[in-house]
Amino acid sequence: MRTQYEITVIIPTFNEEVNIAGIIEAVYLTLSTNKIHGEILVVDDESRDKTIKIVQDLTLKYNNLKIIVRHSDHGLSQSVVEGFRQANSDIFMVIDADFSHPPCLIPHFYDEIKKGADVVIGSRYTHGGGIKQWPLKRRVLSLGATGLGRILFPEVTDPVSGFFALRREVIEGYQLRPRGYKILMEVLGKGQWKSIIEIPFTFTDRQEGESKLSFCIISDFAKQILNIIAYSFVFRNNHVWNEWKKLTRFGLVGLSGVFVNTGLLYLFTEYLGLYYLIASGIAIEISILNNFLLNDCWTFKIKDEPDLYIQNWFHRFFSFQCVSIVGLLINMGILYFLTDFFGIYYLISNFIGILIVFFWNYLVNRNLTWKAKLHY
Ligand code: GDD
Ligand code: MN
Repeated sequence: MRTQYEITVIIPTFNEEVNIAGIIEAVYLTLSTNKIHGEILVVDDESRDKTIKIVQDLTLKYNNLKIIVRHSDHGLSQSVVEGFRQANSDIFMVIDADFSHPPCLIPHFYDEIKKGADVVIGSRYTHGGGIKQWPLKRRVLSLGATGLGRILFPEVTDPVSGFFALRREVIEGYQLRPRGYKILMEVLGKGQWKSIIEIPFTFTDRQEGESKLSFCIISDFAKQILNIIAYSFVFRNNHVWNEWKKLTRFGLVGLSGVFVNTGLLYLFTEYLGLYYLIASGIAIEISILNNFLLNDCWTFKIKDEPDLYIQNWFHRFFSFQCVSIVGLLINMGILYFLTDFFGIYYLISNFIGILIVFFWNYLVNRNLTWKAKLHY
């Protein structure tokens, strides 16, 4: 517990001489007009411009302002984590120096933490959020990164946001391995949290100075994802591990469906004398029902997670049913395409189809049929 301040606003900087004085003033004013006793912590990686000097001068004006200059292992994520270490409060807020993140929202983040959220994320992709002035290349990269992040954290719409707040307990005692730009993924993957709230905001690209995003950062991101996945297998008690559990259960349920399907097909044709295509139709439908029921009460444990987007049992079934039918069509499409156009042996084509459809079914159902609301 460090209760000297109510919140620490961490501002990582590298060569931000044009923005830094303005952002510090904006944060300061927001905190004071909202009567929040907050600390402003600039974490700089030996900027080669006047950033450090400007901040040092401003510490004379603002007594809640502090600067840390790091001399080794430079990087955005490392700087943010250093900010967590040196913060003199139990609530951390991270914001860019270049006005991409509106400082006026800080009190909103603070309130949500006070109300009980463990992590509060400024989201560009939730209803009401957005991005201004981004070139197509950045949008595509960002969507790719967000997509990957959402596989690990399906409930979070913007897991790579750089604008977020959290309680100290979320990360205290956990081994963060900061790398690259996406420190929030590290926090979500390795920290302990139950409740998350997202606040929509519009990301405005920097007016001054330039972005440091490069290909190095993309490869860092890939390494970071692999590291979080490895971590989830070793330590288990975390959100990513829970996602693997769901995926595995979903697979087992799918397997049970194959047995139900084959068994019924045999039964209906051999003992009831039904025409095999009709028998197959009924068997498919019953196996879909089988899979739905098992997934509903076991894979996604509805009882533990009562706050789903689709509340009504029947609507969930309808959603699952539609996804399954589309899946079936995709499967047949792949079978036909690979066999007829590429001359691949039809059982192999079919197997490839099953694999692809398995992931299709899982991802769509996870993100639609059984998507939980973020809440606390
Ligand atoms: N200490 C330190 N060290 N700060 C850094 C470094 C570094 O190596 N690199 C960048 N920063 C600071 C910048 O000075 C700025 O305040 C902030 O980190 C974001 O850097 P930008 O270079 O402006 O990032 P961006 O606009 O491309 O990326 C933003 O969008 C991402 C979402 O796609 C950032 O907000 C990311 O945090 C965010 O994840
Ligand atoms: Mn920026």
